[in-house]
Amino acid sequence: MQKSIQNIIQEAKKIVFFTGAGISAESGIPTFRGENGLWKNYNPMELATPKAFKENPNLVWQWYEFRREIIRKAEPNIAHKTIVKFEEFAKTYVITQNVDNLHNRAGSKNILELHGNIEKNFCSVCGKRYDFIVFEDKLKAPICEDCKGFIRPDIVWFGEMLPQGIYRNAIYHAENCDVCFVIGTSGLVFPAANIPISAKKHNATIVEINLESTNLSEISDFFFLGKASEILPKILPQMVN
Ligand code: APR
Repeated sequence: MQKSIQNIIQEAKKIVFFTGAGISAESGIPTFRGENGLWKNYNPMELATPKAFKENPNLVWQWYEFRREIIRKAEPNIAHKTIVKFEEFAKTYVITQNVDNLHNRAGSKNILELHGNIEKNFCSVCGKRYDFIVFEDKLKAPICEDCKGFIRPDIVWFGEMLPQGIYRNAIYHAENCDVCFVIGTSGLVFPAANIPISAKKHNATIVEINLESTNLSEISDFFFLGKASEILPKILPQMVN
């Protein structure tokens, strides 16, 4: 007889939360592939590639300033905050595809950002960091004070490698966890989607939360249909007072 999800979580020593855009949807941040997703209204190939930035740095910079404006008005929602509470029960690692900085702002401790962070930037020529700076000019890519190169967002664009150290670290934790939550992701983008697949290969229990079945549903041991902010608090083990 299959153990209940509460038992599995209470027995877990290490829990990984693999998250995608869906966990931030209820913070008002559009996902990428939903009916009103970003990629329905904007062409990623024109905005989120090294070639696009090389050809039109100002257009790409404007796109990221547009997204930063939405993200800065957003707040972490109940789902982000509930993940923090799991830290009372087990060692937890948040492995996120999101660049919105909301897991940081919610207070999660161990976060691995596979696709970067929209509040971080670096010079596309000399690599000088320009993190957590609010740039005045929203229309033009800022110029590096050292080498005069264009400053770009520290986001992994299509066609770029993930930060290898972060990815290897993420795979390590996926391969050594007892439970891997898969929350709000279509599971279509690799190598990020290897995280839950690696967890499954190493006998972790896979717990998916989504509004629909996805590319990863076939490996899920538990599937909860619904909003992450409604489901996660119900799964969180009740504190034994
Ligand atoms: N609760 C749970 N799941 C939700 C919610 C919600 N409130 N709202 C939407 N979802 C689900 C959708 O059903 C969908 O399966 O979130 C998923 C969002 O999928 P995508 O828009 O494809 O986002 P994601 O999987 O994070 O994309 C991965 O693609 O474009 C790249 O780099 C970008 O990191 C991104 C990557």
